Formats: sequence, C-alpha cells, structure tokens
Amino acid sequence: MTTYITTPIYYVNAQPHLGHAYTTVVADTYNRFNRLCGHDTRFQTGTDEHGDKIAEAAAREGVQPKEYVDRISAMFRETWPLINVKHDNFIRTTDANHISLVQTVLQDVYDKGDIYFDVYSGLYCNGCERFLTEKELVDGKCPDHQVAPKQITEQNYFFRMSRYQQQLVDHIHEHPDFITPERYRNEVLSFLSEPLDDLCISRPKSRLTWGIELPFDENFVTYVWFDALLNYLTGIGYPEGEMYRKYWPVAEHLIAKDILKPHAIYWPTMLMSMGLPLYRKLHVHGYWNIDDSKMSKSIGNVVRPDELVGDFGVDTFRYFVLREMSFGLDASFSNEAIVDRKNSDLANDLGNLYSRSVAMVKKYAGGIVPEPGATSDDDVELLQVVAKALEEYRENMSVFQFSRGLTAVWSLVGYANKYIVKNEPWSLAKDQTKKERLNTVLYNLLESLRILAMVLKPVMPGTAAKMAQGLGYEEENEMVSLFDTGGKWGQLRSGQLLMDIDPLFPRVDKKEQQKKNNGKKPKKETADGCVEGLIPFEQFQSVELRVAEITAAEKIAKSDRLLKLTVRAPEERTIVAGIAEHYSPEELLGKQVMIVANMKPAKLMGVISQGMVLAARTEVEGKEKLILSTVMGEAQPGDRVA
Ligand code: MSP
Repeated sequence: MTTYITTPIYYVNAQPHLGHAYTTVVADTYNRFNRLCGHDTRFQTGTDEHGDKIAEAAAREGVQPKEYVDRISAMFRETWPLINVKHDNFIRTTDANHISLVQTVLQDVYDKGDIYFDVYSGLYCNGCERFLTEKELVDGKCPDHQVAPKQITEQNYFFRMSRYQQQLVDHIHEHPDFITPERYRNEVLSFLSEPLDDLCISRPKSRLTWGIELPFDENFVTYVWFDALLNYLTGIGYPEGEMYRKYWPVAEHLIAKDILKPHAIYWPTMLMSMGLPLYRKLHVHGYWNIDDSKMSKSIGNVVRPDELVGDFGVDTFRYFVLREMSFGLDASFSNEAIVDRKNSDLANDLGNLYSRSVAMVKKYAGGIVPEPGATSDDDVELLQVVAKALEEYRENMSVFQFSRGLTAVWSLVGYANKYIVKNEPWSLAKDQTKKERLNTVLYNLLESLRILAMVLKPVMPGTAAKMAQGLGYEEENEMVSLFDTGGKWGQLRSGQLLMDIDPLFPRVDKKEQQKKNNGKKPKKETADGCVEGLIPFEQFQSVELRVAEITAAEKIAKSDRLLKLTVRAPEERTIVAGIAEHYSPEELLGKQVMIVANMKPAKLMGVISQGMVLAARTEVEGKEKLILSTVMGEAQPGDRVA
C-alpha cells in the first residue's frame, strides 16, 4: 500500500504554535503508523508565503517580504525536529519550481475558459484574504476576524467554480469518506445546497505585489489560495514523474476546521477544471483552546512547541495531544492536564510496568529473557487482551481516531500491570518448584513490552526506541518496527540480554511544575493560604471512608439503575447504589467495597440510603462502565480508609 499525507502549509505571518504543532504531529504519527504497517509513505508540510497578510507583516517589521518569509519559514522548519516530526518534503510557495507550475496551471485553466475577467464589487476581509458574502457576516462583521469588511470595487479574474458545483456534490455523495469526520462533510454539503459563486483569483498589483504574477496579465498577481492549494501537487513533481503518479492517487489532506471551505470546495473544483482526479480524503480536526479560551496573541496565551518540549519532553507532548483530543472536536489545553496524563498514563502505568518487569527479570532471571513454560488461564487472557488491543489500535489509528487507538493500547498496559499483581512473581521466586511458572510470567511481561514498544513507535518514537533498546533490539528490528511481523505473539527470543536504559518517564512534581509555569501569573491563593482547586488535608479527613462488606443485595423495583445493598461497616446499614447495569446482586455478595460512611442519608426510590459506594467511572467500547472500588487484601468491615 501507498500513502501520501499533507498538512496545511502554514502562513509565515506568525511563529509556530500549539495548533500548528498538533496538526504536524498528527500527520507525522499517521505517516509513521503507515510505515509500521509496511506502506510506502510520503509526508509533506511547508509554508505559505504570499498574500496580503504576509506583505503587511513584513511591512510592520520594516523589511522586504522575501527577507521576512525566509526568516519565519526557517522557524517552522527548525521547529519540527524539536517535536520529532520527520517530513519527506518541506515546500515553500516561494520556491521557483512551485511558482512556475502555478503559472502553468493558471494558463491551462484560462485556456480552457474557466477563468474570466469581470468587474466586481464586494465586501473584502483582509484577515480572510477574500470577499465575503452578506450571509457570512455576523452583526456586519467577519465572524472569524471581528472586523467589518471593506467595500471594494475592482476588476479581477474569476474562476468558474460554480460550473463544478453539481459534480462536487455528486462526488461527495458517491465517496462517503471523502470528508471526515461526518460533521464536516455535512457542513460542506449544506453549504453546497445554495448556489456557489465563482471565485475571485487575482489581486491587482496596484494593491498587492507580493504574489505570483498571472501568466496572462502582468497587472495582476494570483490570489493566495489558488497558489497555496497547488502545493499538494507541485511538491510531488506534478505534472510528471514517478512520485506524482505514485502518490497523487492516494493523497490525504489534514487540516483544522478553519480552512474547510478552501480545501473542500475551492480545491476539488480546481482539480476538476484541471481534469485531475480528486484527492482521496480530507481529514478535519477541531481547535485547541487554552484553559477553555481561544489561543490568541492579544490574550497572551499562545503556547509554543519549544516551551512545551522543554517543560514536559517531546514524547509526553505528542502522547498528550493525541490522547486528549477527540479527532474532529475542540479540546482544551492546560499544564495541569498534561502533568496529570504524564504522571498517570506515562509514569505510573507504562513507566512502572516497564521498570517493574525489567527489574524482576534482572533479579530472578539474571537480566536475560527466560524460556517460557506451560500456559495458564491467566496467560490465555493476556493473549486475548493483546490481540484485542492490537486490532483496535490498528483500526482506530488508520481512521485518525488516535485517542481511541491509545485507549486500546492502555488496556494492555493496565492488564499487564494487573497480571503482575495476580501472579506475584516475587512469591513464585521463593519456591524452586515454581521456577517454570516464574519464567513464563516474566517472559509474558517482556513480550507485552515488546508489543507495546512496537505500537507506540508512531506516537512516541523516542520512548519506543528506548524500550526496544532495553529489550535488546535495534530500533529498526522488524520485531519492534513492523506490525505484521512484530504483532505476532511469542517472537521474543529466550536468552536475549536486556540492556540498561534511563527511566522512561520520571514523574513530574505537580507543585514544582505549577510554580514554574505560573511564574508569570501565579495561581490565586484562597484566604487560608491554599492554592485554588487543591484541598487541605483537614478537608479530606472530614470525609469518612470505610471498608464495608456486602451481606445482601437486591434490585429496586421500577429502577434499572439502582441496587439496594445491605453492608457491614461494621454496623449494618443500607446503601442505594446506581450500579444495577454493571453488577448483578449475586456477584456482590461477600465482596468488600469502599464507602463514604458519613454522608447525609438520602431517600432514593423510597429507600433511605446511609452512605455511598465508591466506584471508578470508565468507558468500554464507547459505553460508560462503573467498576467498584475494593481493597487489595482482607480487611475488617468498618476499617478506616485513609
Ligand atoms: N496558509 C493557510 C493554509 C494553506 S493550505 C494550502 C493557513 N495557514 S495557517 O497558518 O493559518 O494554518 C492554519 C492551520 O493551522 C489549521 O488548519 C490547523 O492545521 C492549524 N491550527 C492553527 N491554530 C489551531 C488551533 N488553535 N488548534 C488546532 N489547529 C490549529 O490557513
């Protein structure tokens, strides 16, 4: 299989920020994922360097446009290696080759009769660099830039976009995954349900000179979008050559919702006019907000990728953005959220799994991959968890559902940690007759880590390489770099020597991190000297948590959700719990759970509840699931939990 993924080419009127970094990391991860699947891949990004905005930014700095674009474009190019992005091509719209191809295309489309000259009077928004229709305005202003557009009358060249409207609508209907997620496909179809205007594709030189000159009229330069969109072709050697033939038929574009219209309407109609097949897919993601507000220079909350990497590390940043944003929806970025994910998912779950497993292999097997013995029921379950995680990972990663793909991977991380607790290798090690079982458990843990190193390679390339190295593999060994080979269980060779590596994810001290990041704007302190959002120990102590043993359980009539539990804690009491969809009464008998013992009694469906049972709220296959809390050993009913 072959894949070609592109990011938007970014305007050079601003330095790279979290939004640009996110799109580029997504494209990089997708590209690496396809390589993991053995595909022949290409990944292109770059900078968009013509147009009003750039000319104005250069003028503000008092430099020539070319000098200005060289400087900012270099900033983008230098940022990508910092977040471990490896593109195959970085295109600039000021490249001579791009300029001459744009002129060739313009001439072809003009000769075909799809470009005409006309007088136009309309409302021009500088920010959007295009004429807006009355309908697009909100309170007389451009909704994106919050400024009233200027009335401009000028003679210009127009592209007959309207001619291709029906053909585009048909294409979208015939190819359900042409624009995904579906909400954006619907948005485009709804826009196309109204008559489409033709597109103004020139700017008179009297107003703007920083652009590609029209080949058929030297008094005009090309509208920046007609120039920029063509990068996806000029960057692969259009109109000829091996690369163009190989990659164009499989082109997939990745963008955020802000530039849906140019990509879903201008670009396909341009391709139709050029007589070319359309790109395969357009993947549209949402926007990152910062602590729930829009990221903007004027608010002063612009997040820079280099700072994030300095604070949290490249792989934590990559993992966080991919895990946190549901592709297609907006997401909120905060330092607290990234620290929480690092400490729980990376340091606690993955980091601990790796360090505990390897430490045990060193202690009980001389640091060498042991020979596994007979398989137990626990092992069969582990293998099932691995198979399911691999399948869900592959399915979701290939359709840009990175968050779900990673959740699938973490179900394996979680199960492997449980497998340690269940099998207690430290107890097995005390009994010589259990040597074979010990070796099997250790082998299975190492094999799970190998599979994890492989699936994490696209997301956290550095961490995956470190894990692979620790397990005794070169980074490029197929066992850790090729899904079809490495995805089979039992590939790890017994006798392989483990290597020492640095800890994968040292925990972040949340308070230290908060101090560091809030240096500029310290978090508010409450009157009693506490940081807002955190509670003092005394407050926690006022909640009385106790171990309770369930002695009876029954469904409450007319409720699908509620169970009436009788518990000993140590006195007998009744608790109503909303767990009927997750547990049957029978399976709860004799179980020890944790309860809040000093809750005010409340009447639920006619039954007085004297406390609350604690449960974790999780999600399985998109459905909420409650998992009751319990204690890890035998406790006495009524024991205090602290
Ligand atoms: N130059 C055009 C694109 C031409 S492509 C032929 C452009 N450039 S841009 O610099 O404004 O980049 C827009 C893109 O940056 C978005 O589509 C998205 O990929 C990324 N992001 C910018 N801000 C963002 C967020 N706040 N959140 C997520 N991504 C965002 O438009």
